[in-house]
Amino acid sequence: METQIKDLRGRAEAAISAASDLKELDEVRVKFLGKKGELTGLLRGMSQLTAEERPLIGKIVNEARADLEQLLADKNSQLKAAELQAKLATEKIDVTLPGRRVHAGHLHPLTLTLNRVKEIFMSMGYSVEEGPEVETDYYNFEALNLPKDHPARDMQDSFYITEDILLRTQTSPVQARTMERHEPNTPIRMIAPGRVYRRDDYDASHSPMFTQVEGLVIDEGISFADLKGTLEDFSKKIFGDKTKIRLRPSFFPFTEPSAEVDVSCVMCHGEGCKVCQGTGWLEILGAGMVHPDVLKMSGYDPAQVSGFAFGLGIERIAMLTYGLDDMRLLYDNDVRFLKQF
Ligand code: FA5
Ligand code: MG
Repeated sequence: METQIKDLRGRAEAAISAASDLKELDEVRVKFLGKKGELTGLLRGMSQLTAEERPLIGKIVNEARADLEQLLADKNSQLKAAELQAKLATEKIDVTLPGRRVHAGHLHPLTLTLNRVKEIFMSMGYSVEEGPEVETDYYNFEALNLPKDHPARDMQDSFYITEDILLRTQTSPVQARTMERHEPNTPIRMIAPGRVYRRDDYDASHSPMFTQVEGLVIDEGISFADLKGTLEDFSKKIFGDKTKIRLRPSFFPFTEPSAEVDVSCVMCHGEGCKVCQGTGWLEILGAGMVHPDVLKMSGYDPAQVSGFAFGLGIERIAMLTYGLDDMRLLYDNDVRFLKQF
């Protein structure tokens, strides 16, 4: 039996060192040390041994098992390391490869224009106010001297939500809201930027949703000359020193007198094109002296203070400053267009 064990041990050792991968090594383990393996088989034969032989042989068998297990474990880690080395040799990491670029976005041309307009007025000492886009009929019309059934409501085709609530058609409601927040007759110098909505066509110079900036100045002794000077100053700051502006008499129920202000068309320089609809001028804002009734409705006294107001269209200003021939470019979200700003 001793020689049998010695022979088994020799063959097992040879097989272990010959194993070239983990799978083969496991087959060797099963063949010699597994439940039905050769060594286990030998142990079963021990019952035929004499009482003196048994402990002796038992010791040799156990030693053989322990040694073989150790050899298997050593070979196992050796093969694992080799496999890892082989894997590392085929998998290359190129540390010189440039990293993936992060594409930082940027502001939309409308936001850029709006920021520029805000900067100009803030540098003149204006505060920036806000009002809701979903507005009551009272603030959008009535507080601006446009009672129900007033024919001038037709100038602004509106999106109503209920009879008394609508999407604001202009930023002018912020005028009344701001006056109400102030002690009566305290001076105001504010702008109010925001989105407005009208049932207008969607064409080269109109959109049913667009952006306005309202302006309101109230103090003692404010005159039409202050309004004209302010608008001229603003136009030169935003469009350049050579810009010409034109004031056309107009009508708004909440200002008296009223004017619409045009800027010389940058696309055709006055020749007439599709942007200015052949006139050579582009209307950018409406303005006027705040109507006494509007002051009164919001608690101000027209005998003590006067004021001017204006409402300008940011899309039109963006078109003029960037030389765009179609307003819809601002809403198409075409990356090729937006990337240029
Ligand atoms: C008004 O909305 C008045 N609230 C302006 C005002 C304020 C007058 C304060 C007096 C005192 P108007 O409807 O003209 O006025 O619009 C003002 C500006 O918004 C226009 O000059 C134009 O630049 C722009 N605008 C008007 N309709 C559209 C539209 N559909 N798409 C893009 N811009 C528009
Ligand atoms: Mg107008």
